[in-house]
Amino acid sequence: MITEEQLQERVAVMARQVVDLVGPQPILVSLLKGAFMFTADLLRELGRIGAKPHLDFMRVSSYGSGTVSSGQVEVLLDIKEDIRGKSVVVVDDILDTGNTLKAVSDLLKSKGASQVRSCMLLDKPARRTADVTPDIVGFEIPDAFVVGYGIDWDNRFRELPYVGVVKE
Ligand code: IMP
Ligand code: MG
Repeated sequence: MITEEQLQERVAVMARQVVDLVGPQPILVSLLKGAFMFTADLLRELGRIGAKPHLDFMRVSSYGSGTVSSGQVEVLLDIKEDIRGKSVVVVDDILDTGNTLKAVSDLLKSKGASQVRSCMLLDKPARRTADVTPDIVGFEIPDAFVVGYGIDWDNRFRELPYVGVVKE
């Protein structure tokens, strides 16, 4: 669906958009595991343009993937940085229903962040149920199950350097 070259080109643009949005010292909160490869490339691109990003990680899991979870997530790994009064940017692989981004944004605001922005590699707008609007989006994609570039299907295919569609 998206080649390695397209990803590299787009991520470089997204790094500039992050700086335009929150300035040259962004605090990135990357969501494990799916966003790890995207985050690594984004961080490198931020460095290339002279930004001084901080990086922290969260790992969350949705309660009952099949059922409507009204934005509830379980925090498996929390951030360590003090974000009181700071602008933070949530970095994730895919914006799907929006439940994850909504819940994580609310959590980061409750920790005192002055603003919580988002930088999502992929967006499936057709699947949205939560009331969230992403600030930065790499690629809008149709409602298909994708893998690669850190994104998995049952923990497989994360290693692919491109984003592909799983065929049944
Ligand atoms: P949501 O926005 O809370 O529904 O969930 C977004 C998360 O669901 C992403 O961070 C992925 O972990 C997962 N996800 C959604 N669509 C896909 C897909 O096509 N492939 C793999 N994971 C996906
Ligand atoms: Mg994820």
